[in-house]
Order: sequence, then structure tokens, then C-alpha cells
Amino acid sequence: MRRRHFIGGAALGVTGLAGVSLPLLAAARRAADGESPGRLLTSRAELPRPYDVPLPVPRTLTPASGAAADVYEIVQQPAELEILPGLRTPAWTYGGTFPGPTLVSRTGRRTLVRHRNTLPQPTVTHLHGGHTPAHSDGYPTDVILPADGRITAERALAAMTHGMPGHGAPAGVGGIAGGERTHTYPMDQRAATLWYHDHRMSWTGLGVWRGLAGFHLVHDDEEERLPLPRGERDIPLMITDRAFEEDGSFRYPLIDAGLTRPGVTDAYMDGVLGDVVLVNGAPWPVHRTPRVRHRLRLLNASNARPYRLRFDPQPAGGDAFVQIGSDGGLLERPVRHDALRLGPGERFDVVVDFSRWPPGAGVRLVNTLARGGAREVMEFRIAGGPAREDAGAPDRLSRIERLDPGRAVVTRDFRFRQGKDGWTVNDRMYRPGRALARPALGEVEIWRFTTSLHHPVHVHLNHFQVLARNGGAPGPYDAGWKDTVDLPPTQSVEVAVRFTDYDGTYMLHCHNLEHEDMGMMADFITG
Ligand code: C2O
Ligand code: CU
Ligand code: CU
Repeated sequence: MRRRHFIGGAALGVTGLAGVSLPLLAAARRAADGESPGRLLTSRAELPRPYDVPLPVPRTLTPASGAAADVYEIVQQPAELEILPGLRTPAWTYGGTFPGPTLVSRTGRRTLVRHRNTLPQPTVTHLHGGHTPAHSDGYPTDVILPADGRITAERALAAMTHGMPGHGAPAGVGGIAGGERTHTYPMDQRAATLWYHDHRMSWTGLGVWRGLAGFHLVHDDEEERLPLPRGERDIPLMITDRAFEEDGSFRYPLIDAGLTRPGVTDAYMDGVLGDVVLVNGAPWPVHRTPRVRHRLRLLNASNARPYRLRFDPQPAGGDAFVQIGSDGGLLERPVRHDALRLGPGERFDVVVDFSRWPPGAGVRLVNTLARGGAREVMEFRIAGGPAREDAGAPDRLSRIERLDPGRAVVTRDFRFRQGKDGWTVNDRMYRPGRALARPALGEVEIWRFTTSLHHPVHVHLNHFQVLARNGGAPGPYDAGWKDTVDLPPTQSVEVAVRFTDYDGTYMLHCHNLEHEDMGMMADFITG
């Protein structure tokens, strides 16, 4: 039975084991926007001039703190946002804004987040990078039904598993909830930049595109003892690309505007790229900054677009980015970069010293993988006056336990490829309840990911360490604990992973959300 109809005549010549030259050629032919995989969706609305709109910083939610836990309440709700000046964008939001509010947790202190869904569609909330028990992780069929009762559980399941035989919710996950769900996050994990977003099976791309994404920061004592920039000098930057209709609404190439049949139209199955870059929900914003060091928490929350970020102009001497953290928190030592490559889902914590540019300079952050408007990201406008001394990045940041590959009990292969009806992991499109692996808690495993085209691979529950790329050394962006690793076409990456604490059903998947929605996801069961 064909689960999806989006292939049409667009099938690629990638069959069987991916060779080297053929998929590369195909990827090049299909790249519609510079070197970005996916297809560019062009806005019909009038777009603002870059670097006019001030950079917003998402508000931080204050928890109702009990003795034992921090308790947050988030109402998922429709909102009309002004993203393009003078136009209204109907959005799906966490608490009325895009990005949603930033949550802040303390390592070891339990965080409860109650989500109430007043949107017209079911949703699933996942904390990306969270070390979370399965019932609270946001399994893709663990929907929260709309609170008004307009959509039944049966209808919600049918919209996710359209045409798929024999689906069923596996054991150990949270099940379907009516109207609201409380997620329990024990937060037994290091300080890190996490994010939460929609994760509904077959509909994640739409949910995130319409606004369901926010930051969740974790702090700990180790990080606090370091002289790093804080407060207003510690800025989370959520980078997304979008396209807009003439009236300002989000443009997205759904196959069925009635939202009963999931998927995007044939032309966009590689991924949807927008022509407007939003940072914290604002189009090509500008941030006025004193000549002092900042910590920037960069998150690529785009559906499909990768970024290679660079400052223009570069400061004298280069190495503008001093990377201090990755997906899973602090590195052992800072790593200096001229440019940063971020696949969808990845985070990089960097310190940037804005005193390295002259007073009054306009410093653009650009994406060298894109052309046209999507090449521009944001601008920092450097204030006048002398440079100020402030906290920077110490040479020693943290200690990271190395997972020893010599002690690995198994090596598993996961192949991310195109199938005939969609995107596959080990030749299978996603089916809830069918596990591709059963890792034992506490054991080191080696997971090897190989790709045909470009795929950012994400694993839930525990962070991993990159051991090798194409049999060689890890790349410049692979340092530290990762939960998402960006794979260009025909690469292989080996990682060491050790799952801990929680038994149950979890996911690994491609974080190109159109790929994820169209099959490129798999369950694994820990125990
Ligand atoms: Cu950010 Cu399973 O996702
Ligand atoms: Cu995740
Ligand atoms: Cu993919």
C-alpha cells in the first residue's frame, strides 16, 4: 500500500547502495538555492529591507515554584503576529509568541511543564536535547487533542497514519491526551541550550513552520562558576527561514490544505526553504551592541535549511566565533572558527567579542550556503565608544567523559535514504511501534549513520560523541556532546552513544522536517 502520493515523477536515480558520484550530481541538480538542499518557496508578500527590525529576545517564563519542582504552564494558542511590518501573520504559538517563551531550568531540579492545547489541531511537544522519561518525551503519536474536543482520537490518528496499515501506539509512551498534558523533566543533565517544538507524526514540518518552537535553557554550577558573558550579554538566537503569502500569512506547500492528508507537494519533498530569514521571529533583524563580548546561543530551527554562518566583515585576524558549547553543553576547551555550519536542529554556543570591530561598524551575519535574500541573516551594529572589558571564554571549560568505543557492545547501521514512497531509515518508512534497535541501558554502542543526500540526524534521550566521519577524524563542528549531527550527501558518521536511566520507546530521525514527516524516522527501545 502506498502511504504517500508525493513522489509523482520526481523520483531520483538513487537506488540500492548510494554510490558517490550519482547522488552528488542529483543533489547539485536539485539544489534550488545555492548549496542548500530542498526547494525555495518564494514569498508573495512585500518584504522589508534587511536590518531595520530590532532583534527581539523571547521573554523568560517565571515558574510557579513548589518545594520539589519548577512548574510552568504553557497555553498553545493561535495568535496574529506582526512579523512583516504592517502585515498580520496567523500563527500557532506557545503562549502567544514566536518563538515561544524561554524556559530556564536548573540541573537536578525537576521541571514540570503543563501544555494546554487550544489550537485547532492536535500537537505533540518534544524537548529536543532533553534527557527525558519516555512518557514525557513527546512520542510522535502522543498527541494532545484540541481542548474544545473538535477532533477525536480516531481522527487525530487517521491524520497521522494516513493509509498506513497496522499502526498502534507502542507501550511505554504517554498515549493520547485530551486538551492538556504535563511533561515531567527530571533535568538530570548538564547545562545546555535545549529547545522545545512540535513533534506530531507526519505534521511536524507544518507545526514548526507555523510557530511551535521555543528555547529551554539548563544552567548548572559548573557553568555558573565560569567567567562567561551573562544577562543581556547572553542571547539565544533562533534562526528559521519562512515564506509568506501576499496577506502576510505563512506560505507552506501542503498537499492538502484541509489538513486531513499529510505531506507536501512533490516539488518540496526534499525540504521547504523560505526566502526570508527570521531570527527570534523577526525578519533580518538588527541588534545594537556595545563593544563587549557576548555569548550567542545559535539554534538552527529551520525545517530544512542548513547555514554556514560567517561575519561580514570578518574581524582582523579572523576566528570570530569562539565556540564554547554544542548541543549537549560546554566543550572541554573553546574551539575557534571563521565560520559555523549548522544543520537543522543543531545548536552552537559561541562567544563573540564585538570590540574587535570598529565603533559604528555594521557587521552582518551571513549564510554563505544561500543566495539572494536568504544569504542575509542579521546585523550587529557596533556602538561607538571604547571597548569594554568583560567576561570572555576561559581556556578550560569543562570535563567530558570519553565514551570508549573499545568497550562498545554492538555497532549498528542506520542508512538514511530515499525509498520509493518516501524517505527511509534502513529502507523503512516510519511506523509507530516498529523498533529498529533495542539498546541496553548503560552500555556503550557505536551507531553508524550513512546518507544518500543531505540529512541532519538526531537521536533522542542521550547525547552522543562523534568518533569518525567517512572513516577519518571528526569534523570541525563535531566537538563535545551532540544530539544532532549534520551529514552532507554520501557521508558516514560514527558516533558512540550510551543510553541511561529511562527504559521505553524513543526516536531517531532526520531533522529535515519534511523528511521526518515523510517517513525518515524510527523507534528504538531502551531497556
Ligand atoms: Cu528536535 Cu525528535 O526532534
Ligand atoms: Cu529531540
Ligand atoms: Cu533527511
